[in-house]
Amino acid sequence: MTTTIDGRPQAIQPGERLIDLINRSGIDIPQVCYHPQLGPIQTCDTCMVEVDGKLQRACGTLAADGMNVVTLSSRADAARREAFDRILGNHMLYCTVCDNNNGNCTVHNTTRLLAVEHQEIPYKPKPYEVDMSNPFYRYDPDQCILCGRCVQACQTLEVNETLSINWEDSHPRVLWDGGAPIGESSCVSCGHCVTVCPCNALMEKNMLGEAGYFTSLAKPALNGMIDIVKGIEPEIGYGSILQLSEMESHMRESRIKRTKTVCTYCGVGCSFDVWTKDRHILKVEPEHGPANGVSTCIKGKFGWDYVNSPDRLTKPLIREGASFREASWDEALTHVARRFAEIKAATGPDSLAFISSSKCTNEESYLMQKLARAVIGTNNMDNCSRYCQAPATMGLFRTVGYGGDSGSIHDIEKAGLVMIIGSNTAESHPVIATRVKRAHKMHGQKLIVSDLRANEMAERADVFLHPRPGTDLIWLSAITRYILANGLADQAFIDQWVNGAEEYRKSLESFTLEMASERCGLAVETLTKVAHMIAGASGVCILWAMGVTQHSMGSDTSTAISNLLLATGNYMKPGTGAYPLRGHNNVQGASDHGAMPNYFPGYQKVDDPAIRAKFERAWGVSLPPKPGLDNHMMIDAIHDGRLRAMYVFGEEMSLVDSNANYVADALSNLDFFVMQEIFFSETCRFADVILPASPSLEKEGTFTSTERRIQRLYEALEPLEGSRPDWQIIQDIANRLGAGWKYEHPSQIYEEIAPLTPLMAGVTYERLEGYKTLQWPVAEDGSDQPLLYTKQFNFPDGKATFFPVPWSEPTDQPNEEYDLHLNNGRLLEHFHEGNMTYRTEGIREKTPCTFIEVSPELASERGIQTGSWLQLTSRYGEVRAQAVITTRVRGRELYMPMNSTEEPVNRLTSSHTDKATHTPAYKEASVHLRVLGEIGQDPLPRTNSRHGHPTPQPGVEVERKWKRKDYRQPGDQLVQIQTR
Ligand code: SF4
Ligand code: SF4
Ligand code: SF4
Ligand code: FES
Repeated sequence: MTTTIDGRPQAIQPGERLIDLINRSGIDIPQVCYHPQLGPIQTCDTCMVEVDGKLQRACGTLAADGMNVVTLSSRADAARREAFDRILGNHMLYCTVCDNNNGNCTVHNTTRLLAVEHQEIPYKPKPYEVDMSNPFYRYDPDQCILCGRCVQACQTLEVNETLSINWEDSHPRVLWDGGAPIGESSCVSCGHCVTVCPCNALMEKNMLGEAGYFTSLAKPALNGMIDIVKGIEPEIGYGSILQLSEMESHMRESRIKRTKTVCTYCGVGCSFDVWTKDRHILKVEPEHGPANGVSTCIKGKFGWDYVNSPDRLTKPLIREGASFREASWDEALTHVARRFAEIKAATGPDSLAFISSSKCTNEESYLMQKLARAVIGTNNMDNCSRYCQAPATMGLFRTVGYGGDSGSIHDIEKAGLVMIIGSNTAESHPVIATRVKRAHKMHGQKLIVSDLRANEMAERADVFLHPRPGTDLIWLSAITRYILANGLADQAFIDQWVNGAEEYRKSLESFTLEMASERCGLAVETLTKVAHMIAGASGVCILWAMGVTQHSMGSDTSTAISNLLLATGNYMKPGTGAYPLRGHNNVQGASDHGAMPNYFPGYQKVDDPAIRAKFERAWGVSLPPKPGLDNHMMIDAIHDGRLRAMYVFGEEMSLVDSNANYVADALSNLDFFVMQEIFFSETCRFADVILPASPSLEKEGTFTSTERRIQRLYEALEPLEGSRPDWQIIQDIANRLGAGWKYEHPSQIYEEIAPLTPLMAGVTYERLEGYKTLQWPVAEDGSDQPLLYTKQFNFPDGKATFFPVPWSEPTDQPNEEYDLHLNNGRLLEHFHEGNMTYRTEGIREKTPCTFIEVSPELASERGIQTGSWLQLTSRYGEVRAQAVITTRVRGRELYMPMNSTEEPVNRLTSSHTDKATHTPAYKEASVHLRVLGEIGQDPLPRTNSRHGHPTPQPGVEVERKWKRKDYRQPGDQLVQIQTR
C-alpha cells in the first residue's frame, strides 16, 4: 500500500493519518493544532495539502493506497500561509519577552518554518480579561489562537469536560464550564490543557516572569519593549526579530534545567521533564512517558512545592527528654549504629525491625532489606504494601502466579469491558481513569463499577453496583457460578489452561444469584446482566483497589476476581486481565526488591535453603532462615515487649496504620526508634533519632509502577543542604555496623540486584536510560513482558489454578451503639494524609481539610447540614470533622477522606486484618455519630472543582466553526473570523 507524496511513493501503515505519513517522510509542513496524542482537531487549517488535486487538511485525512499528495504546490503553500496568517491575527508575537520562548513554542516555530516576514491580517486583541483565578495556571484570551487543543484534551483525553469554545460568538474564546472563572469551575487542575497549548495562552503560573531574561520586567517596561519591536517590524520583518528571540531562547538553555523524573505520588507511574531554574520549579512537562504521554493529575503537574518547603528537615535530631536537639550527621549516625548494636547484643537481632518506604527507590528498599538481613540478621522487614496491596498480590499468587498487573495501561484502554471494583480510580489513580473515561466516551468501551460510593467512575458507568459493605466476594462468586452453569464460560480456555475446575465448581454451589441478591442487596436481574456483559465482552480487564483489599476477606475477594477472569478466559490476550491498582509510586517496587518479611528480592523465599545460600554467598554472611514479622505483627510485638528497636524511612506509620491510637502507643514504647524523613511528621514525634532525607527530585534511582514498569529518575535538584538521599544514609549506618559497602551511585546497587534476582535479570541502567522502561519479568537479554502469561502461567506446569474461597462475615459490624458504616479513602488533590500535598498552597486553598460525607437521608434524619461539626466515635477512637451532604453516599454509610494529620480517620479503624496477609480491614468500621451543634462554612470551598458544572461535548466541535458565515476554508475565498 503506497501513497505518493510530491512524486515519491511512500509505504503506508494501516489506518495511518496523512499528517503522520508526511512527518515520517521527513517533509516539514505546518500543523499547529495537530497533536498525535489528541488526534486530528482540524481547527487551524495550516496543514493543507493537495490530495488528488483537491485541498485537504492532512491531519484529517487517512493515507490511502494510490493517493497522490502534493505538499509543494503553490496552491497548498498559499492555503497554509493564509491559514497561519489568520492565527497571527489572534496572537501577538513578542517572543523575546515571552515566558514560552523555550524552543518548543509551536506558533514561534511555525512562523520560522514559513519564513513569515509580515502578517496580512493585523493582530487584534479580544475583549476579555486574563483569567488568573486558578492557583496554578492562567489563560490569556489575547494570545489564544483558538486551536482547540486544550478543549480536545479536556473533553476527550482527561475527560473532565470543563472546556469548550463558543464558536458562534462574535469573539470566540475558551470557556470553563460555559463561562465561569477558571477558579470556580469544574477544572481539576490536571494541567492537560496547559501542557498541550501550542503557545503562551495557557501558562503555568510558576513560569510567569521566571523563564526568560526579560520576562520579569514590570508590565509597562515590557509593553514598551513590545511596542518598539512592533514599530520596527514593518521595516525589518519578522525574520530578524525572530533571530533575536532565538538567541535569547538559546541563552535560557544554560539556566533552565530539564530533568526527566517519575511522579512521586501514586502508582500510575507518570513520567515527565521537570524544568528548574536553580531551586525554583518552573514547570512539569509531560510528553514521552510510556504510562501517561501528555497526561498528569494535579499532584504530578502542580504538587511539588513541598520540595522547597521551609519545613524540610536539614539537621539530624536526637531526642533529649521530651524534646530534640540538633546533631551532626556523624554524631547521629554513630549513635544509631551504636544503639542498634547494643540492642542486637542484648536481646538478639529479632528485637529490631525495619520498614522501608514505598515512596523511595527500588535501590533504597534493596539496601534496607540488606541492612536488616545481612547486617543486623533479622527478617523483620516490611513496607506499606501490607496496608493495601498484599491481598491483591496473594489473590494473584494463588491463581496465576505473579503478584503484579497482568498487562499494561494500554491493555486497559483496549478492553471491550472494564470492571472497576472498590476503587475511586478518578481520584486515586487519575491518569488510569482518563484512559478508561476516554475509551468509554470515544470508543464504546463498556464500564461496570461496583462501589459503596457513587464516585465519578460510577456516575459514568453503564452499570453501577452498590453492594452491601464487605459482600463483593459473594456477588463475584455468584456471577462466576452463573457463567459456569449456563454455558457462558470459556470452556476451551479452562480445559487447556486452568487446574482445579471441578473442585472450584463445587465450591460455588451455595453462591446462587438469589443468595447473592439477598446478602449483597443487588437485584438478580442486575447480576444476570453483569454476567452476560462479562461473558459477551471482547476482552475484560478488572481493576480493583483498597475497597476490595482492605477487608478481612481482602485476599479471598481478590482471588474471586481472578477466578472470574479465568472462568471467562480473560487472561493471556491483549485487552484482558487483572489490575490491582498500586497505591504509592513505588509500592510495587518495594515488595519486588525484598522489603518483605518472607521474601528476598524477586519474591524468592527466605526459608528456601538454596535461595538463602545464594544470598549468603553474594553477601558473605549467614542469613536468618525463618520469615520475620510483618508490620502489623511488629506493632503487637512492641506491645508484647519482643520488639525493642525500629528503623522506618519515608512512612507516616502512626497515621496510616489502622487503629492509630494503638500504633501510637506501641511506637512510644520502643526503646529506640529511628525515623528518616523529609519533614517532621507525626510519626517523628515518637522517634529517638530523626535523619533528614531527600525527596525524589533530589536523587537518582528507579521506581516500579502499577504496570510493573521500571523507570529511572534523575537528579533535578541537588539535595537540600543538610539532607541526604536515603540510600546514602542506609549505607552510612550499615558501614558503621561494619558492612563495608562501597556504593557510589544507585546504578551500582542495581548491578548487584540483577544477577541475584531472576525477575529482574536483564535490568540495567543503560536499558532504562531516559524514557526507556522495562516491565518485569526482564530476561537477561533485556526482553521484558508488558503482557504477562502470553505463553504460560507462572506455575511449574504452566497452568493457572482455580482457588476456592469461602465467605465470612466482615469484622467490626454495626450494632445499636456504633450504628453507621464508615468508609474511607483518598481525595484527588491530596496524597494520603497530605504531608506533601498540603505544602502546595494552591492545593491547600482548594482542599483545606478533611470532611465527612453524609447522605441526604441520614442528614435529614439527624438534622445535619453541610458545614455541621460532627464527632465520630468507633470502638477504637474518635475524630471531629465537618459534614458534606452528598448523594455520593447512601443511607447509613459515611465516607471520610484520609487527608488529615489532625483528625486522621485511622483513629477509628480497627486492628482486624485480612486473614492471609494481615492487611488491616480499614474498610470495615462502624461508628457512632454525634452532631456537635456548631455549623461552619462548607469544608469544600467554592473554588473546589466539586462545585463546578462541566459541559460535556464530543470534542472541540470544529464543525461549528466551519458553519460560521465568516469562515471559508483557506485556499477558497478568505474571510477572517472577526474578533473586534
Ligand atoms: S480539567 Fe482543568 S486543567 Fe484539566 S484539562 Fe480541563 S480545564 Fe485543563
Ligand atoms: S488556550 Fe486552548 S485554544 Fe487557545 S491557543 Fe491554547 S490550546 Fe489553543
Ligand atoms: S499522582 Fe499518579 S496519576 Fe497523578 S501525575 Fe502522579 S503518577 Fe500520574
Ligand atoms: S494541523 Fe491540520 S487543521 Fe490544524
